Amino acid sequence: MKPNLLLSLLTAGCIISACASQPPNETAVKDIFGDRFTIGTAVTVNQTNGDDPIGQQAIIRHFNSIVAENCMKCEKIHPEKDSYNWQPADEFVEFGVKNNMEIIGHCLIWHSQCAPWFLVNEKGDYVSADTLRQRMKDHIYAVAGRYKGKIKGWDVVNEAIMEDGSYRKSPFYEILGEEFIPLAFQYAHEADPDAELYLNDYSMAEKGKRETYVRLIKQLKERGLRIDGIGMQSHVGLDYPDLTEYEKSLKAFAAAGVNVMVTELDLTALPAPVGGANISDTAEYNDSLNPYKDGLPVDMDAKWNSRMKSLMDIYLRNADAITRVTAWGVCDGDSWRNGWPVPGRTDYPLFLDRNHEMKPFLIELDKELNNNEG
Ligand code: XIL
Repeated sequence: MKPNLLLSLLTAGCIISACASQPPNETAVKDIFGDRFTIGTAVTVNQTNGDDPIGQQAIIRHFNSIVAENCMKCEKIHPEKDSYNWQPADEFVEFGVKNNMEIIGHCLIWHSQCAPWFLVNEKGDYVSADTLRQRMKDHIYAVAGRYKGKIKGWDVVNEAIMEDGSYRKSPFYEILGEEFIPLAFQYAHEADPDAELYLNDYSMAEKGKRETYVRLIKQLKERGLRIDGIGMQSHVGLDYPDLTEYEKSLKAFAAAGVNVMVTELDLTALPAPVGGANISDTAEYNDSLNPYKDGLPVDMDAKWNSRMKSLMDIYLRNADAITRVTAWGVCDGDSWRNGWPVPGRTDYPLFLDRNHEMKPFLIELDKELNNNEG
């Protein structure tokens, strides 16, 4: 055999084994963490309606908390002023109820994936403050009201603050100013008084975001409004964010008197031409940005697992402050990161690989926390 052919066979072997090397482990992801915090996943319509039965089984087996990846967003659930699309969200909630899971609502007020009619009049101009207040109230009352008693907590306002701590100049802010946040919390509490209410955002390791969210928690509390938690989305990479800053934010939110949730965890293994997680920040595809089409090489796999383990160590040592850790998707093949910020890539960001097998960092944690050898 020619040496270079032998070499490529060996390399191919390594790459394949990186994807499917773990011994089968009987433990479920949620059991590894016991009662420290719930373990969630974002789910798709196909998973709750049964079109993806393998994914559905993996959710039931591994997770005790679910959040809707898309079907409760304004553009999906309230596409026209007088028409709601309830079926996918109803199925999602029923799936959670049936399987005795914690059900998280995502999200009530967000500038992205907002229905096109929501913020403008027939001429396409922004509506008045009064009109937007009424629309927010109607929307929140209808959506949170429909699932009253079934949803554990709502991401009430998503992504309101910029990295430097200033308010995002979203249409909600342009029309209503800072007041849109307390208003959304007031309406959500009126619609479902028992639901927990959260602020949710990405890049939470940034000092500016940290400080503004701490201030916001205080302001909402001072006004007698309910706020239960801060969601740190945690769409992270191998070299961002700085984990010291990330943990500092986690502690600062807890010290401000709310629960902390890791709400959208995914760790990209790919080059990241765009930071943060603003869904409208995208970059064009080129092959150099998609280096692991055929599998993650052994060294990258080790790097990825070690980074994920560092994140988990942060969660474990702050377990008193954290109520939930949610992965943004079930298995690598499901992840939105295959399509964002660069379309058409092959990424490896989640707890389960494309065969729904647990990643090595989980097996290591199982050993460490439970003496379980798999
Ligand atoms: C993403 C979904 O995963 C994608 O399917 C969709 O096309 C775009 O939105 N922050 C959030 C999530 O709060 O709702 C986003 O989800 C990812 C970034």
